[in-house]
Amino acid sequence: MRFLITAGPTREPIDPVRFLSNRSSGKMGYALADGALSMGHEVHLITGPVSLEPPHDAVVTAVESASEMFEAVKREIKTADVAIFCAAVSDYRIEEVAEEKIKKNDDELVLRLVKTPDILGSTRTEFNFDGYLVGFAAETENLEANAAEKLRRKGCNLLVANDVSRSDIGFDHNENEVRLFFADGRREEIPRAEKGEIAAKILAAIEGDL
Ligand code: C5P
Repeated sequence: MRFLITAGPTREPIDPVRFLSNRSSGKMGYALADGALSMGHEVHLITGPVSLEPPHDAVVTAVESASEMFEAVKREIKTADVAIFCAAVSDYRIEEVAEEKIKKNDDELVLRLVKTPDILGSTRTEFNFDGYLVGFAAETENLEANAAEKLRRKGCNLLVANDVSRSDIGFDHNENEVRLFFADGRREEIPRAEKGEIAAKILAAIEGDL
């Protein structure tokens, strides 16, 4: 089968040398890409800037901003059977990117932010994707309620939720601990483990649900 996987953070430019981003390392998405390849699937990895080597056998599209990731997914999802949105996409971008490096002339600087396109949220509606859709939810509060609601609202078959308020797992760590929410109401806990092991369990859950 053909897997499309998004991974890593996005970078939203402020001026030619600065950007807004987040702490995503890309490790979870890259582990999923590795796992899917070793199960014999084809993988197209759409990745934000990370310091990881992409898996050899994956087709890789490197992007920077949320809107670049949106365009890449829109283009590539047409041929995918399974789409896993693991990227930590910035929810906001700077409305007007400065053409020159911003000088520190004033004591205060106000940046106006506007929403980025919701890639996962566009997948069913705008991209007309009818394959198996997996979203991620990084929550710091009300994990269960937010995850179940997000699953429904975005038309996912599976939502993988992790609690990013914990400093020992998740963002920028080698280990993770996640909860799976399936569209039919089933739930599954994947206890704390290396991201490679978590990825294998998520992929097994997807295969079992196809
Ligand atoms: O609503 P929230 O941002 O928490 O949803 C997270 C999920 O949505 C992740 O799967 C993430 O990759 C995806 N996402 C996206 N486009 C955005 C924001 C989030 O695809 N602009």
